[in-house]
Amino acid sequence: MSLTYTRIQAADTDVLFALEKHIFAEDAWPREDFELFLSRPTTFGYIAALAGVPVGYVLCQKIADEAEILSIGIVPAHQGQGHAKAVLGYTVQALAQLKVNKLFLEVRRSNAPAIRLYQSFGAIPMGVRKGYYDSSPTHPEREDALTYKIPISAQGD
Ligand SMILES: CC(C)(COP(=O)(O)OP(=O)(O)OC[C@H]1O[C@@H](n2cnc3c(N)ncnc32)[C@H](O)[C@@H]1OP(=O)(O)O)[C@@H](O)C(=O)NCCC(=O)NCCS
Repeated sequence: MSLTYTRIQAADTDVLFALEKHIFAEDAWPREDFELFLSRPTTFGYIAALAGVPVGYVLCQKIADEAEILSIGIVPAHQGQGHAKAVLGYTVQALAQLKVNKLFLEVRRSNAPAIRLYQSFGAIPMGVRKGYYDSSPTHPEREDALTYKIPISAQGD
């Protein structure tokens, strides 16, 4: 079964927040963060569904020819099946059509699956933000963020 994608809109706060809680559990961002993101015209992303049931999302911020991944996740039961690669690939293609040529992101140093995902898109290491992430219920110590840039080839010229 293949994924279908729906462009995220302002009315999607409930769906996104439900996915967020399912994926990130105690580390989920608060609902107000999603309300804020979705109120901004710079927010760009997709909800991915299997047979009509949402299983993941990617949320970005897009300004001019640059974008940044704010968050990406796939619900636990569907992880490890190539879905994040598919969602990110779809998003990168859409950004390319919008003339975006750089996609920035940051990730916890310990998040091996996410780092592997980004590396599969040719992510170039940019630097380290020491102690960038606060401690949280599942991460008792502050943690460094690794920053990356994914180059995007222009399309549609
Ligand atoms: C990171 C995440 C989005 C990956 O989603 P996924 O659908 O499982 O990933 P995919 O199946 O598309 O695999 C993508 C790559 O990650 C690798 N990967 C997936 N799960 C992995 C694991 N548990 N350990 C190591 N690598 C893993 C895959 O092998 C693949 O790399 P490859 O092509 O080099 O083999 C998912 O683990 C997730 O939602 N995690 C919780 C939220 C999170 O941490 N989001 C990212 C930070 S905002």
